[in-house]
Amino acid sequence: MTTEATATDSIQKDATPSRGVVDRDEGPLPVLSVAPMMQRTDRHFRYFMRLLTRHTLLYTEMVVAKAIVHGNTERLLDFDATEHPVALQIGGDDPETMARAARAGEAAGYDEININVGCPSSRVQDGNFGVCLMGEPERVARLVEAMKGACELPVTVKHRIGFDDRDSYEEMADFVDTVSAAGCSHFTVHARKAWLDGLSPTDNRNVPPIRYQDVYRLQEEFPDLTIELNGHIETIDDIESHLEHVDACMVGRAAYERPYRFAEADARLFGDDHPIPSRAEVARQMADYAERWMSNGGRLQQVTSHLINLYSHRRGAGVWRRHLSEHDHLDESGPELIVEAMRRAEDA
Ligand SMILES: Cc1cc2nc3c(=O)[nH]c(=O)nc-3n(C[C@H](O)[C@H](O)[C@H](O)COP(=O)(O)O)c2cc1C
Repeated sequence: MTTEATATDSIQKDATPSRGVVDRDEGPLPVLSVAPMMQRTDRHFRYFMRLLTRHTLLYTEMVVAKAIVHGNTERLLDFDATEHPVALQIGGDDPETMARAARAGEAAGYDEININVGCPSSRVQDGNFGVCLMGEPERVARLVEAMKGACELPVTVKHRIGFDDRDSYEEMADFVDTVSAAGCSHFTVHARKAWLDGLSPTDNRNVPPIRYQDVYRLQEEFPDLTIELNGHIETIDDIESHLEHVDACMVGRAAYERPYRFAEADARLFGDDHPIPSRAEVARQMADYAERWMSNGGRLQQVTSHLINLYSHRRGAGVWRRHLSEHDHLDESGPELIVEAMRRAEDA
């Protein structure tokens, strides 16, 4: 049995944490999740994160509902069994298409289906979904109804405080009220508004000010709903302090840029004090994973591109990153590249 298979077994054995879950009617929700991020939270990054934390909920990148229904569904939705608990985020505005996509997500084995009501990109606006749907709470309610009618999974919504000049607390609360009446009981709020014109998606993640108090208030006024806070949460200390006000926290960029920081999540948030794998062990397990991926026709770089921050803010970080990025695209490179980069980083 490989080291990797051993890790997989232990992940499955310890699947139920002793604390750190919110009891919802639809089933338990971990108090920490890693955010959906396009071109980041693909199956390779999620596998990597799962080696660091067994209990954190992992989100896919947003997948457009039409692509799920009309495209290569198996390729788009395939994931590794060790990724559980894993939520599929979908984007779209047509109830029938979203319902079919949700059903496909359930058939593929996901634990939750999430609707993207937060993305401000112009491509998404052209399709009339993402954050502009906050202006149409009734439509989002119809999406939730259709999706809940099509599958047994929790259907959740990720949104923002608002957009453009429609950014009052009251309007957000009306949105949540309307959508929850249709059967959604879990809202993840990116605690800032978006500007639809004039700001790029990157600026929209940095420029509009963070408004944590509005999200705390939402939890206070809707105590029966699960409210998850998102936006510039950097550390487990931050999470612990937000959890005094909201049920759960979602971390995006910090998880990608400082992944090893979240290796402490199982002990500190979920009461599971299994030994934390060293960076070297994680690298070895990712080499085994890359070997399997490549033997099925995948490319090494698809895996290694997500590993570059394993040593971030630590001795060896530059050596690790450089060795991977200078060699991972070469035809002669194989999974042993990851082990060699790890040896160099450890010796630095
Ligand atoms: C590269 C990148 C891609 C993103 N893609 C998505 C996406 O597909 N769906 C979504 O709802 N949010 C997406 N987001 C937004 C994040 O989920 C999150 O709401 C945002 O980054 C704020 O959280 P943070 O400050 O912890 O990063 C993306 C963010 C980044 C940085």
